[in-house]
Amino acid sequence: MKTQRLGKKGWTPERIGSLKGKTYVITGANSGAGLEASRILLSKGAKVVMMNRNPNKSEAAIAVLKQSLGQDVDVSFIQIDLGVMASVRRAAEELLETTDSIDALICNGAIAQVPRQDMTVDGFESQLGVNHFGHFLLTGLLFDRIEASKGRIVMVGSNAYKMGQKRIKFEDLNFDHKYTAWDSYAQSKLAQVMFGYELQRRIEATGKQVEVHVCHPGASRTNLLMDTASTFNKIMWSIMSRIIAQSAERGAWPEVMCATEQGLPTMKLYGPTKRANTVGPVGENKLDDVALDKEMASQLWDLSLEKTSLEWGL
Ligand SMILES: NC(=O)c1ccc[n+]([C@@H]2O[C@H](COP(=O)([O-])OP(=O)(O)OC[C@H]3O[C@@H](n4cnc5c(N)ncnc54)[C@H](OP(=O)(O)O)[C@@H]3O)[C@@H](O)[C@H]2O)c1
Repeated sequence: MKTQRLGKKGWTPERIGSLKGKTYVITGANSGAGLEASRILLSKGAKVVMMNRNPNKSEAAIAVLKQSLGQDVDVSFIQIDLGVMASVRRAAEELLETTDSIDALICNGAIAQVPRQDMTVDGFESQLGVNHFGHFLLTGLLFDRIEASKGRIVMVGSNAYKMGQKRIKFEDLNFDHKYTAWDSYAQSKLAQVMFGYELQRRIEATGKQVEVHVCHPGASRTNLLMDTASTFNKIMWSIMSRIIAQSAERGAWPEVMCATEQGLPTMKLYGPTKRANTVGPVGENKLDDVALDKEMASQLWDLSLEKTSLEWGL
């Protein structure tokens, strides 16, 4: 979708009509872009199921949403730790038992800039484990329900996908050699966007009725670096974000657009369009070739099936 078609303001939530009867599932929705995406979708009448790690924060987020939107908004949460594959399986099961249709699964939750190599219980470098493997497994487990709903999958990436080493380090996936916070975060975000495009290719090849959209929030004032980054990066970000970043609400717009806008072309990247795609009107961004590398994406797909022990005949 060219920004011109959307006008100077780009995509805004004013374009959304009533979402009554629609269900959106969002990971990591108790803060930042996920919380703001929930707020927008609920304000249009949708049902939102948050898939969150922290129950206390989730209850607080729900209370805040109900306070601002009304007690009768249809918002709930299911506990999930994207960094624990057993938790992802349990949460997917709970969601399938309680949710008949999924109009969009928004893969939003993430950790970033983890200063020292940290491993998940399943033996993955933490950012790759949470951001990619957790979402890969969750998407695979929910795929049939999303297909039955003629729904969408929204992958929330980052401009970091085209930074760092610009490849999946298959020979040293966990960065046992020369770990850096930046390279490992960039790899995890590249894995997410590559997975999104590979999934869309496989869906098209099998004639299935699911759309995948890939987006990013640009630079947004959220908790992202405040949770996991080094003290130095936290201080830098708390100063810099006041100057260079936009609000968390604006950061949510690309993912809400990808979940709701009709006729949105697939195999694109959506996000803010100004200042190197960090802020500004939401529209299509130029996509770096690395995201569309079919060979790397196919290798990543096979590896992800193996690492998550998922059977997914797509
Ligand atoms: N903010 C930016 O400038 C920026 C830039 C590029 C891309 N992004 C992307 O935007 C998305 C949203 O991030 P944000 O900026 O809104 O940051 P945020 O406020 O920190 O939100 C991230 C969410 O992910 C959740 N999460 C973390 N680890 C999890 C786990 N193991 N299992 C389940 N949930 C987990 C967090 O939950 P807890 O509260 O439990 O920690 C939190 O709710 C992410 O995909 C991020 O990579 C953000």
